[in-house]
Amino acid sequence: MKFFVDTGNIADIKRLHALGIIDGVTTNPSLMAKETRDPRDILKEICDIVHGPVSGEVVSTEYDGMLREGRELRKISEHIVVKVPFTQAGVRACKTLTEEGTRVNVTLVFSAAQALIAAKVGAYFVSPFVGRLDDIAHVGMDLIEDIVEIYDNYEYTTQVLVASTRGPLHIVEAAKLGADICTCPPSVIEALFKHPLTDIGLERFLKDWEKAQQK
Ligand code: E4P
Repeated sequence: MKFFVDTGNIADIKRLHALGIIDGVTTNPSLMAKETRDPRDILKEICDIVHGPVSGEVVSTEYDGMLREGRELRKISEHIVVKVPFTQAGVRACKTLTEEGTRVNVTLVFSAAQALIAAKVGAYFVSPFVGRLDDIAHVGMDLIEDIVEIYDNYEYTTQVLVASTRGPLHIVEAAKLGADICTCPPSVIEALFKHPLTDIGLERFLKDWEKAQQK
């Protein structure tokens, strides 16, 4: 399974990329709004660091505007994936941009029916938001299970990019279900490393080693 980091923060991306486990980056308008620089410059810098798929999202809600923005975003780097919301305009834009050879990430997906439509128009990634479903007492991971099953049934090549992850359990469940990618906030990636028994075990090894040196 691939790991993407869900942020527009360059310092976080550099730090996590150095770990050797980051395959790509997702951004969205809320994440970009937290940064002070021009989003285009940020996306360019991210692409230069990661050399993997970097999703940049359009903010237009109309088909023509999405196309215009998508074509501009695509010029930033070969690594850019244009992210469009799952709306009728977004689906149309996905089809057109895909036909032009641009990779598209269809985002804000909350149902299997939406994921099926995204695959039909050739989305490169589909982004189902598991955490936001959990937040309203729906089991987000049930959606991942349904999408993986449907895509397998019809051999769709659209990759399932599990989004809105909130903790390590989402990542483990997604991997068990065979999702292609999880995009995680930096804090979730850091949480994947933590285990108290690792810390306790390391402390004990080092203490024993120190004692042996004093003999
Ligand atoms: C996905 O690409 C989105 O940027 C993201 O995962 C949304 O997550 P949130 O629900 O934590 O905002």
